[in-house]
Amino acid sequence: MEAYEIRGGRPLSGAVTIHGAKNSALPILAACACISGTCRIDNCPDIADVDTAIAILSHLGCRAWREGRAVLVDAAGLCRCDVPQVLMGGMRSSVLFLGALLTRCGSAELAAPGGCSLGCRPIDLHLWAAEALGASWWCEGERLLCRAGTMAGCRLELRCPSVGATENALLMALGCPGTTVIANAAREPEIADLVRFLRAMGARVTGEDTAELTVEGCAPLHGGDYLVMPDRMETATYLCAVAGCGGELLLRGARPETLEAVTDALSRAGCRLEREAGGLRAAAPPRLQPPGCVITRPYPGFPTDAQAPLMAAVIRAGGTTGFVETIFENRLRHAEQLCRLGADITQYGARAVVRGVRQLRSTELCATDLRCGAALVIGALQAEEVSRVTGIGHIRRGYEDLAAGLRGIGADIALTAEA
Ligand code: UD1
Repeated sequence: MEAYEIRGGRPLSGAVTIHGAKNSALPILAACACISGTCRIDNCPDIADVDTAIAILSHLGCRAWREGRAVLVDAAGLCRCDVPQVLMGGMRSSVLFLGALLTRCGSAELAAPGGCSLGCRPIDLHLWAAEALGASWWCEGERLLCRAGTMAGCRLELRCPSVGATENALLMALGCPGTTVIANAAREPEIADLVRFLRAMGARVTGEDTAELTVEGCAPLHGGDYLVMPDRMETATYLCAVAGCGGELLLRGARPETLEAVTDALSRAGCRLEREAGGLRAAAPPRLQPPGCVITRPYPGFPTDAQAPLMAAVIRAGGTTGFVETIFENRLRHAEQLCRLGADITQYGARAVVRGVRQLRSTELCATDLRCGAALVIGALQAEEVSRVTGIGHIRRGYEDLAAGLRGIGADIALTAEA
C-alpha cells in the first residue's frame, strides 16, 4: 500500500509554485464538450481528477490530450452522450457533463457522481434547473437520463448558492434560446473563471463575481486558448502547512485576493502575510495563537475546503479554536485522525473544539477524503518522529505532487510502497 512517510518537527522555508486550480480546470474541461473547435486549457494541474475528465471526454468521442502544462480538447468528434458508472464515480465534477451534454447533444445519460464522501451530496438543484429550462429527467436503475424538450431561457433562483448547480445551470443555459438569469448564484472565483473561459470561446455570459449571472443562449461557440487561475485550496494548504510548522514561504503565483477569509484567519493566528510581485509571502511563528471561531460559508466566507487544513494547523496553537462546518454534514472526519496524533479535539455534530497541545506523537493515519488527506499531512509534519499517511489516492485526486512540493520547502516526506 502506498503511503507518505513523514518525519515532522521542522519549520518550512523556501518557495513553492502554485498549480492551476482543480475546481476551475474540471468545469472548464466539462464545458469543452459543448464546443466543436479545439480548446487549449493551459495551467491544467496534473492530478487524477483531470485524468478522469480526459477519460470522460475521450469516451464521448472527443480528442483530449496533455501537452506539458496544457490539456487540449477537440470535441468535434463527440458522438455519444453517456458516461459510464466507472468514470462518473471517479470524481464529483463528472456531474457537470449533465449540462455540457444537454447543450451539445440534447440528452445525457449519467450515473451517480463520485468525489469525496462528505455526507449526502444531493443534485436536486442541478435537475431542477434542467427541468426549469425545458428538459425532463428520470432514473432507470442506477442511470440518470435527461432529455431536452422545448428549451427556453428563464430566471433560475437557486435555493442555495451551490457551486456545482450554478456551473451546471450555466452550461445548460448556453444551449437555451433567450435569456437565462441565474440568481443566488455561487460567487466562488472558479465560477468567474468558467464564465471568462466561456466568454473567450464566444458565449454571451455576464455577471461573474456577483450572485446573478446572465446568459444569452445559443451564441456560436468556438475553440481558443485559456489559462486556468491558480488553485486557492493548494495555496491555503501550503499556508496552513507553514502556519502549523512555523517558518517562511513564498507562494509563487498565489492570488491572495481569492482567499481572504483564510488569510484573515491566519493573520489572527499570528502569521505575517504580505502580497509580493507574483505571489504571497507568509511567515509563521513557532506557535500560533488561536484565530477564534471559524465558520465555513459560501464564498466569500471561509471555504469548507480549507477547514481541515486550518484545523491541522492549530492543533499546537496556544489556546482553543472553534470550528463550525455549515456546508457539508460529514466533513470533520479528519478530527478523529488528528486526535491519533495527540491533538485535543472534541466534536459535537458539525462543530469541533480544538485545544492546542504542546507535543504531538507520531502514528499511522489514513486519509478518508481529499482535504482530510492534506490535513493529516500537515498534522504529521508537526509530530517529531515518523508518521505514515495512507489513503493517498484521495490526495492525488486534487494535489499535484504534494510530497515533492513539501520536500522543496524542507519537509522530510517520502513516498513508500511497501505492503
Ligand atoms: C463545494 C463548495 C465549493 C468547493 C467544492 C469542492 C461551497 C458552497 N461549495 O462545492 O466551494 O470548491 O465543494 O469541495 O462551499 N446542495 C443541495 N442540492 C444540490 C446541490 C447542492 O442541497 O443540488 C447543497 C449541498 O448539500 C451543500 C451545499 O448545497 O450543503 C453546497 O453544495 P455545492 O456548492 O453544490 O457543493 P460543491 O459544488 O461540491
